[in-house]
This record gives sequence, C-alpha cells and structure tokens, in this order.
Amino acid sequence: MLKIINVVGTRPNFIKIAPLIKEMKKHKDINPILIHTGQHYDASMSKAFFEDLNIPKPNLNLEVGSASDAAQTAKIMLKFEKALLKEKPDLVLVVGDVNSTFAAAITAKKCGIKVAHVESGLRSFDMKMPEEINRILTDHVSDFLFTTEKSANQNLINEGIDKKKILYVGNVMIDTLISHREKAKKSRILQKLGLYKKEYAVLTLHRPSNVDDNESFKSIFNILNKVQRKIKIVFPIHPRTLKNLKKHCLLESLKSKKSIVLTEPLGYLDFLSLMINSKFVITDSGGIQEETTVLNVPCVTIRNTTERPITTTEGTNVLVSTDEDKILNSCNHIIKGVNVKSKIPKLWDGKAADRIINILLANLGRNHQT
Ligand code: UD1
Ligand code: UDP
Repeated sequence: MLKIINVVGTRPNFIKIAPLIKEMKKHKDINPILIHTGQHYDASMSKAFFEDLNIPKPNLNLEVGSASDAAQTAKIMLKFEKALLKEKPDLVLVVGDVNSTFAAAITAKKCGIKVAHVESGLRSFDMKMPEEINRILTDHVSDFLFTTEKSANQNLINEGIDKKKILYVGNVMIDTLISHREKAKKSRILQKLGLYKKEYAVLTLHRPSNVDDNESFKSIFNILNKVQRKIKIVFPIHPRTLKNLKKHCLLESLKSKKSIVLTEPLGYLDFLSLMINSKFVITDSGGIQEETTVLNVPCVTIRNTTERPITTTEGTNVLVSTDEDKILNSCNHIIKGVNVKSKIPKLWDGKAADRIINILLANLGRNHQT
C-alpha cells in the first residue's frame, strides 16, 4: 500500500488537490491522507471548496490560522512533523506555492520522506514575492517535480535540478475547471448579483505588493474608479484585501459606487460562472491567469511579472503593472470589443492528475519500490 499524505492550506490548494484525491481513490493500492494546515479557515475560503468540489473531509486539521510568514511556517512545521512521525507515509504531496506548501515540503524532507511538488518550476524572478521564495525552496527539496508549462522545466534545469526528476504533466487546476464547467452553468450567481452576460468585469486582488502597500492600493482604486464609469465591476473581496480596505477607510467609498458590486469571496462554481460570463477579468491572482486562458476570457493582470508566461504568449493574459495608462488602455480595448483568441496550452486537457498518479505508482508502487 502506497501511503500518501496530501497537504492543503489555502483556497487555490483545495482546487488543485481535488482531482488528485479523486484519482488516488480509484487505485486500491493507494492510501491517500489529507491534511489541512488551517492557513485559510473562513467558510468562504475553505469549507465552500470542500463542498463544491466534493473533497473528502481532511483526516487532520492543524488549525494554524493566520500569523506572520515566519510564525505561520514554523507552526505548520511543528505540527506537521508530529503528524508525519505518527503516519509514516511513503510520500508527501504538496501543491502550489503558499506557506503551507513550503512548510510541509521542508518538514517531510527533513524526516527522510519523499516529496512530490505539483505546479513546480514556475518563477516570477521577483524575490519580493513570498510565493517565489516558497517555490524555489520547495522545488529544491522535492523528488518529483510536476510541471504545468515548458518554461518551468527550463527554470528547473537552469537551477541545476536533475532532469530525471522534472515531469511535464499539465495542469491540475485546469482538470478541476474542465470537470466542473457544466456544473457551473447551473449557478444562479448572475441573477443573484443582478448581472447580464458580457456586461461586467470581474475583479480580484490580494497580492501584498498591491493591497498591503498604501500608495499602490489607493492608486489602483483611483484607476478602477475610472474603469467602473465604462463597465460594471464585480469584486469578490479576499480577506487580506478587506482588512486593508477597512484600514485605509476605502470600503465605504467603494460601497457608494453604483457600478461596483462587492461580494464576499465566492465558492468555486459561482466564481467559475462569473468568469465564464464576464467581458473580462482584472486580477493579480496566479490561478485566474490560467483559468481565463482556458476560458478564452481576456485577463488584465495588475502585476509587473508573471510566473505563468504561457498565459501571455499563448493565452489571453496581459500584464499591466499598476500603470494607469496601461490598465485603462487594456480595459478600453476589451470594452470596445476587440476579439481575443487563446491557444490552450499543451496537456491542459483535464488529465494531469491521472498522469501524476500513474507516474507515482510506477515509481513508488509495490512492484517498483525505489
Ligand atoms: C495566501 C498565499 C498566497 C495565495 C493566497 C490565495 C502565502 C504566503 N500566501 O495569501 O500565495 O495566493 O493565499 O488566496 O502563503 N484571512 C482571513 N481568513 C482566512 C484567511 C486569511 O481573514 O480564512 C486574513 C487574515 O487577516 C490573514 C490575511 O487574510 O492575516 C492573509 O492570509 P494569508 O493566508 O497569510 O495570506 P493570503 O493573502 O491569503
Ligand atoms: N476563486 C474562487 N472564488 C473567488 C476568487 C477566486 O473560487 O472569489 C478561485 C479561482 O477561480 C481560482 C482560485 O480561486 O481557481 C485562485 O485563488 P487565489 O486567487 O486566491 O490564489 P492564487 O491563484 O493567486 O494563488
């Protein structure tokens, strides 16, 4: 029996783990254990995804909650080590680039347990991003590095990682999108928020560089104020962003704008429906850049860099930083109705989880112990 501990902690992690757990459960010789670190804990950031995506209840919740990066990472490591010593798994599987990913990977490696990293090799080359530090360190302690785009393979090779460990398998986040697209059609979110197809833009913001920095935050909202004069903006507010909106007294002013619809963070199916039917998306999210590429929905990314360059070369993504002219020009261009056409990146076909599990079984399964 191959015992795999799967680690999740944040919203994008739940979306990435769903197809992997489903695939593991198809194999009698895999015993999947799910551990939630508790990094995200609001119902709208956690429970909603277990329900929408039918993810089994975690076997253990470490309940670390929010803290500074170092404190949160340390808390996860202390609690996760205990779980590892008790369970003695054959493999720890981590996804993405959040603190939970890095903390679990390094702890497992120090306990002598093999690590698989799903969504390996992405690089923004911006070490000010906490995620970039997490990505690099996680990759360098991993035994299986599963990648989503070819740039990731090259980044890992450039960092001296053994080519044999690097496995291009496609994108598990897109597995989830493909398997839930039909279900999302049943969502009533447009009616609930009073929206019409292609007559609104969706906005998400949560990067510390945009929302923790007072000047950037204010400047982004001044620009969005100009965009909302041309098109309705729907804004599901991430908890980090809500905290900052309150701190900088910006929430009341946003609420007063008729063309800005504020909501809590939405569940997966409602949010997918909102993206599918939108004119375009404005975001600083990582995963949303990929989803909009597959949905062929234009994506305006308020960042200077992206660790997912394929979304700009083959997909619908444009990077506009926080530059007012760039943001307004990109939005106006889309509002005027200029068509976009994306190519779906190779192997973003809904079968990435299947490939990952087959590789793990071939390398670690009963008949092929390494
Ligand atoms: C984290 C990840 C980021 C990822 C994002 C996905 C790190 C370093 N950052 O950012 O890479 O893109 O998740 O959404 O791991 N909070 C709540 N309720 C919650 C969770 C958070 O109120 O359920 C508030 C707390 O005030 C907390 C703040 O949001 O301090 C930030 O949460 P945290 O998990 O530290 O970082 P995120 O910005 O969510
Ligand atoms: N998402 C969601 N509800 C929302 C906002 C985002 O379901 O209100 C989904 C989105 O479709 C994507 C994921 O959350 O699958 C992205 O998470 P986030 O932007 O928090 O993290 P990142 O990808 O930047 O790490």
